Amino acid sequence: MSNLVAVSDLHVSYQENREVVENLRAETPDDWLLVAGDVGERLTDVGWALSVLRARFAAVVWVPGNHELWSMPDDPVKLRGVERYEALVEMCRRLDVRTPEDPYATWEGPGGPVTVAPLFLGYDYTWRPAGCTTKEQGLAYAHQTGVVCTDEYMLHPDPYPTRDDWCRARVAETERRLEKCDPAVPLVLVNHYPLVREPTRVLRYPEFAQWCGTDLTADWHTRFTTAAMVYGHLHIPRSTVYDGVPFEEVSLGYPREWQPRQRPPGLPRRILPVTPS
Ligand SMILES: [Fe+2]
Ligand SMILES: [Fe+2]
Repeated sequence: MSNLVAVSDLHVSYQENREVVENLRAETPDDWLLVAGDVGERLTDVGWALSVLRARFAAVVWVPGNHELWSMPDDPVKLRGVERYEALVEMCRRLDVRTPEDPYATWEGPGGPVTVAPLFLGYDYTWRPAGCTTKEQGLAYAHQTGVVCTDEYMLHPDPYPTRDDWCRARVAETERRLEKCDPAVPLVLVNHYPLVREPTRVLRYPEFAQWCGTDLTADWHTRFTTAAMVYGHLHIPRSTVYDGVPFEEVSLGYPREWQPRQRPPGLPRRILPVTPS
């Protein structure tokens, strides 16, 4: 019996995490793997991890995290913004890894059929700290507390003027695609960020939520028939349910985060068939 499984935030610039990737195995030859972003920062690292995983799974579906879109000063690949994303998509095509730019595939295995929709949506600073009514206020507050996402320095939105402009364009385009999907076939939505704000309520630093998603997707899990929503980014692996829809945070995270946990990472997480509770 094959499985649709998921993982995110492999952050393979850390040697310990590379070892986790090397030990990730499919249970059956027909398993599909969803990779919900933050594989790494450098294209060579991302390519290494995705090719290792592609050799083990019948299909691999990737969406970008913020880290893939960072332009690190020491990366020989100097591309920024949309061009960087397009280079990642090109690399995935060479590796036979599916991306948000491909037609959505159908998982026909146990728990299916479902349409697997990899999404690249970004964030638009609408998940602001309490009392802040504008993006500028939210960012000013974060600078005051010192909790500022590195994206502000490394994730360039070119040719869009801002990261939120890029997000709004991606959301509009993605919404049009989802509207065209057959409503009789449920969706598994895969995005680096959760589609609703609730998962960010447990962040240690609530002001970090402005880099974690957008209000524009708040009703997507109910508007479109959704079997599961798979995300990462928060580095808080857990399963929750919103409006009857399972949301799965499937991150590995940094070694300092996962190593102290009592249990091993338990990855990849099975999405379908649903594990009986
Ligand atoms: Fe991450
Ligand atoms: Fe992230």
